[in-house]
Amino acid sequence: MDEREQKLAQIHEAVRQCHRCPLGQGRTHAVPGAGPVNATVMFIGEAPGFYEDQQGEPFVGASGKFLNQLLEKAGIDRNSVYITNVIKCRPPGNRDPRQEEIAACRPYLEEQIALINPQVIVTLGRFSMARAFPNEKISQVHGQPRKVEGRIYFPMYHPAAALHQPSLRRVVEEDFMHLKEMLSGALKPSEYTPPPDVEQLSLF
Ligand code: URA
Repeated sequence: MDEREQKLAQIHEAVRQCHRCPLGQGRTHAVPGAGPVNATVMFIGEAPGFYEDQQGEPFVGASGKFLNQLLEKAGIDRNSVYITNVIKCRPPGNRDPRQEEIAACRPYLEEQIALINPQVIVTLGRFSMARAFPNEKISQVHGQPRKVEGRIYFPMYHPAAALHQPSLRRVVEEDFMHLKEMLSGALKPSEYTPPPDVEQLSLF
């Protein structure tokens, strides 16, 4: 293991031991994230669901199966990307994450991003998108890559949204094709200046 792999393993272990918020009490497993430390693309989902909580791995349930199909169609090897979530423990009944849970978990996500230093961050769902684009609507920005201080953000609907709303399925599939085009250099991201509160958090 090289130094960066060790550091990532330490972050994962810290997540597994975490009790910064009450979700730590109800979990079967925390779900730190998965993928190589040298990944150039990082996917950030919302929160673990039932199967992720059971197995300690991200996106292994129904959303994960759909994500695998999308990745395959886009020619992206799941083993080459890093996948994590905004919060690392399952909220009861899969309810939405609360702001205090997001805040408690945020340092882990920031450390993961700083260490892995991906060129592209694909956000899955509105909670993930809100970190970089706090005042925007996913319905208006999905599928449109934007460059924010040297890193490209690619906002997408959450795969679960497409599973629950069949009309969104085509949209998500098309967005993945845009992602493929962008990764191949055919689609250029637009420049974007984040609102001041985001810059002050020095997230990037
Ligand atoms: N949904 C998410 O947002 N993340 C997972 O890991 C699984 C389902």
